[in-house]
Amino acid sequence: MASSRPKRIGVLTGGGDCPGLNAVIRVVTLEAIAAGIEVLGIEDGFEGLVEGRFRPLGLRDVRGILDDGGTILGSSNRSNPSHYCVGHDSNGDAIYENRVPNCLQRMRDQDISALVVIGGDGTMTCAQPFVEAGINVIGVPKTIDNDIEGTEITFGFLTAVQIATEALDRVRTTADSHGRVLVVEVMGRNAGWIALYAGIAGAADQILIPEMPYSIEAVAEHVQQRVAERGSTVLCVAEGACPIGGEPVIKLVDPTSPDSIRLGGIGSVLAHEIESATGIESRSVVLGHLLRGGSPTAADRILATHFGHHALGLLLDGQSSRMVARVDGMMTSVDIRLPAGKQRLVPPDHNLVRTARGVWTGFGDRREKGR
Ligand code: F6P
Repeated sequence: MASSRPKRIGVLTGGGDCPGLNAVIRVVTLEAIAAGIEVLGIEDGFEGLVEGRFRPLGLRDVRGILDDGGTILGSSNRSNPSHYCVGHDSNGDAIYENRVPNCLQRMRDQDISALVVIGGDGTMTCAQPFVEAGINVIGVPKTIDNDIEGTEITFGFLTAVQIATEALDRVRTTADSHGRVLVVEVMGRNAGWIALYAGIAGAADQILIPEMPYSIEAVAEHVQQRVAERGSTVLCVAEGACPIGGEPVIKLVDPTSPDSIRLGGIGSVLAHEIESATGIESRSVVLGHLLRGGSPTAADRILATHFGHHALGLLLDGQSSRMVARVDGMMTSVDIRLPAGKQRLVPPDHNLVRTARGVWTGFGDRREKGR
């Protein structure tokens, strides 16, 4: 849908943070200013829109932020305006209300006619009622998990892969020194892209991902073979990985959060099971939010800047309801509704799975090594 060029736009970052968010805010602000458009930063994602927390963004605000981790605007993953928590009843249950009309009023008050929403599938879903209300909305996909449907890459992912790769390199020397098994747990609730990429780059002997449930017997056999051949072994495991017929390891349940189940702990469970099955001393390390924090790599700074540039271009063209995307290596856009409720998972026959098998990496099954 095409509409007229906005005079003032709002920018927000929603969901879990990831390296490169500030790079997007920077380019959107700079290009908007150059086009004579004012930019209001909305604090803490859609929460700031509900509560009317706006901040003008000027040249000084975006100077020097390209390499900063996190988001200068703050973020929130508990703030869906259509289903907004306004308090709790006497039983402690959350009370939800639709706060979209009140957001729209705040936007009219601020003269904002377009939004750039930087976030994951949840943020794109939250943006829907604004599209339906005639607001020009452009989405920019982010997540370290790289699992947003409609785009083959999201910024933040390659930074997470780099950090996980460095961790794998580091644990290898300590595993070697002690003849141990080292299990490195990385983020990846439903999608194993980080584990797959980092596992290949960091030469993990086994990669375990949610899309390919593992057999603990196969994992233990592989461990024994590798330790017999090389003296130690390193595994890269996504937090959502689980055994065949089993469930992922839950760290805690938080009913107040949209992601009510927090995963974590598979690394230590596996290390324990491997040690019991093989008798080889095993240790684990959880990388967790280390993968999300800090400065983006050069590749992510470029990708995030390119995404933001394309987003502003779409707005200037009068486009709405689009999400910036990279498809077949080209910058393009898709319907902003496309990622809602979906996830781009690792197909078990993915080229990189076969590539990893080519260097004898195991996936928790008894497949022969090689292609
Ligand atoms: O951004 C998605 C993700 O990286 C998942 O892999 C992970 O489960 C989740 O973030 C954890 O986020 P938080 O602890 O901020 O809720």
